Amino acid sequence: MTRPGQPTPLESRASDALGGRVRVPGDKSISHRALILGALAVGETRISGLLEGEDVLNTAKAMSALGARVDRTGEGVWSVRGVGVGGFAAPDKPLDFGNSGTGCRLAMGAVAGSPIAATFDGDASLRGRPMRRILDPLEQMGTRVPSQADGGRLPMTLQGARDPLPIVYRTPVASAQIKSAVLLAGLSAPGTTTVIESETSRDHTERMLRQFGAQVTSIPEGVHGRRISLIGQPELHGANVVVPADPSSAAFPMVAALIVPGSDIVLEDVMLNPLRTGLFRTLREMGADIVPDSEWFDVGDGDPTQLVHLNLEQAANLRVRYSKLRGVTVPPERAPSMIDEYLVLAVAAAFAEGMTIMRGLKELRVKESDRLEATAAMLRVNGVNVEISGDDMIVEGRGFVSGGGLVSTHMDHRIAMSALVMGLASDTPVKVDDTAFIATSFPDFIPMMRGLGAEFA
Ligand code: S3P
Repeated sequence: MTRPGQPTPLESRASDALGGRVRVPGDKSISHRALILGALAVGETRISGLLEGEDVLNTAKAMSALGARVDRTGEGVWSVRGVGVGGFAAPDKPLDFGNSGTGCRLAMGAVAGSPIAATFDGDASLRGRPMRRILDPLEQMGTRVPSQADGGRLPMTLQGARDPLPIVYRTPVASAQIKSAVLLAGLSAPGTTTVIESETSRDHTERMLRQFGAQVTSIPEGVHGRRISLIGQPELHGANVVVPADPSSAAFPMVAALIVPGSDIVLEDVMLNPLRTGLFRTLREMGADIVPDSEWFDVGDGDPTQLVHLNLEQAANLRVRYSKLRGVTVPPERAPSMIDEYLVLAVAAAFAEGMTIMRGLKELRVKESDRLEATAAMLRVNGVNVEISGDDMIVEGRGFVSGGGLVSTHMDHRIAMSALVMGLASDTPVKVDDTAFIATSFPDFIPMMRGLGAEFA
């Protein structure tokens, strides 16, 4: 499936100090899950603060094509009336997830628990991403895959099982998407489905499953991992979901404020799930002035899930001021808690003094683009020295960026936003070839940044 429309390039320029208070849109991970769990529940789920970006809107359409009643009742306010676990109806056309790996992979898990066939598709970026990692466990649970493109890619058709087998599955990579797909399929299984991860990934699915009435336990496994077990065939009931602001989106104005001299901004209601705050921790280690107005649930690189008994997410307002940054080493075990933030961290690293070494970034190669290569290219074309060594990225920070480059976004929203942030403090403007994909996760990015004082032309 393709995206209509012409590319929309944009240039960003050195700006005066940024200032003001903003609330970035609702968290993308929670928004997808609220719609999917709402569709699997009996009764009404009311969601406020839903991210109304293209990725999430595609998930909403897919849930309605599968038989749920999905209504928008106000700005960011949605109502979902679900069909119950195992109750999806076969959609009459392919489900189009656009650019979104999360929407697609979680929906595959949900569909695997209903005895229906559904075809999954997406744009050129999503068609290039690996789906084997989801099919492996789902096939073990009884899902069949009547058709798929070469290499386990989209478009593909899944035939869900009437009674999926409960399995014990060890994820091969730290991925909340794999974990969530198995747990969602396990909802229909008669028994206990267990996922073991050796590095702990974001736990929104576990928290929200509990909120919707399922029994889920999560205990430590090894040094950094968890063993998560779900008792199958619960009756999920509708819930009220309040979506806090997305820390992965807050990352962009945050880094902008840190690198544009004199800036002083407040980011409102930012979710501080300890499995999502790796960037904030790293920036603080670099010397960033980021101050929350309530308790900071930073539990470091130890066991970040000690707060797992809390189903609801914590959030705080964050005051961010321009800071002189210094290079740091980011350990590989921190990667799951900041996997989407390395692009904008690399921008901060370029403005820091000294080397920033980011280790263990293999998963970046299979995101919306090959983010290791795309990030290195974005920096190099703007005069920054970067080295990729195996799965590590090393950025040489010199306290300034010369800029002047044209950045290829590769259908990747976060490349576009990172490059535009970089241009706000570069000596010469930075141009991006296409800003259209920003609408997948942060539709108001450009006007919101302009409101803070960013100069885009
Ligand atoms: C997400 C999990 C991450 C992340 C993605 C959102 C989620 O992917 O990159 O943007 O909501 O579960 P992986 O789980 O594949 O690392």
